[in-house]
Amino acid sequence: MTASRPVTTSQPVNTTQNEDPRMTAQTPAPFSDVVRLDLAGRTALVTGAGSGIGRAIALRLPRAGAHVKALDISAPALEEVTGITGGSSHVVDLSDLDALGRVDLDADVVVNCAGIQHVAPITEFPEEKFSLILRIMLEAPFRIIKAALPGMYERGWGRIINISSVHGLRASEFKSAYVAAKHGLEGLSKVVALEAAAHGVTSNCVNPGYVRTPLVDKQIEAQAAAHDISEDEVLSGVMLASAALKRLVEPEEIAEMAAFLCSPMAASMTGTSLVADGGWSAR
Ligand SMILES: NC(=O)c1ccc[n+]([C@@H]2O[C@H](COP(=O)([O-])OP(=O)(O)OC[C@H]3O[C@@H](n4cnc5c(N)ncnc54)[C@H](O)[C@@H]3O)[C@@H](O)[C@H]2O)c1
Repeated sequence: MTASRPVTTSQPVNTTQNEDPRMTAQTPAPFSDVVRLDLAGRTALVTGAGSGIGRAIALRLPRAGAHVKALDISAPALEEVTGITGGSSHVVDLSDLDALGRVDLDADVVVNCAGIQHVAPITEFPEEKFSLILRIMLEAPFRIIKAALPGMYERGWGRIINISSVHGLRASEFKSAYVAAKHGLEGLSKVVALEAAAHGVTSNCVNPGYVRTPLVDKQIEAQAAAHDISEDEVLSGVMLASAALKRLVEPEEIAEMAAFLCSPMAASMTGTSLVADGGWSAR
């Protein structure tokens, strides 16, 4: 069993994106905080905050004044993030629902982001891996939302942001657990939207196509090895084959969508899905 370990740091929020070490020459510039957002006095809980999309969101929301509670299984990754943002970090394995239950999950904004992938035909898909993916990507979000809603109801305001995927709306072969978990998350998000609306709480999904993160880097490597083709060929011929826009989404673009969902301009949006899939689901 993994114990949760809250760590609070007192460093000030670093307000410049240029100090983000993931900003590379390939990153479309300039990435700026487009959405005007004031989350001063609000707490935002972000899972999967140690890497990729979760990390970008955990860096974005403090720039709007939020105190971030960063959750991840990786202590070093969390340390790096809270070194930039301040806030608190909680090392927890989301597949361990008992350990998750020992974390203080109260927050004004919840971002369910942590996720993993496993690619195999259904006939060969390991049963324990299917359960694990459902636990991390559907059951844990349910537990977190359930724990956070009472505080949101009391304060009359809350934002639930579920990082889904184009795979919450479309299927792909060999991703049975991932597609099932994301479709389940879409359903959960809609039920939350209906139940929580009267309390000033909205619930939405964000649905990226392929985003430039370690999760995708691993898939590109694996596909290149499996098909004996170059990583560039995997990107153009396999991963972006269904997308009209032949580029990876940047994590910062998804972070800005999360920021928008917290803004007053999104107050009427609930029970829906914001899609950034480069036109994949237009087919
Ligand atoms: N990258 C993409 O192309 C893409 C596209 C659509 C949706 N998404 C979704 O975005 C989310 C984040 O993906 P990413 O690409 O940033 O991945 P990532 O691998 O870069 O980051 C995932 C984070 O989740 C953490 N994590 C994994 N298992 C955990 C567990 N059991 N307990 C706690 N933390 C755990 C990891 O340590 C990591 O920090 C996922 O839900 C993924 O399905 C990603």
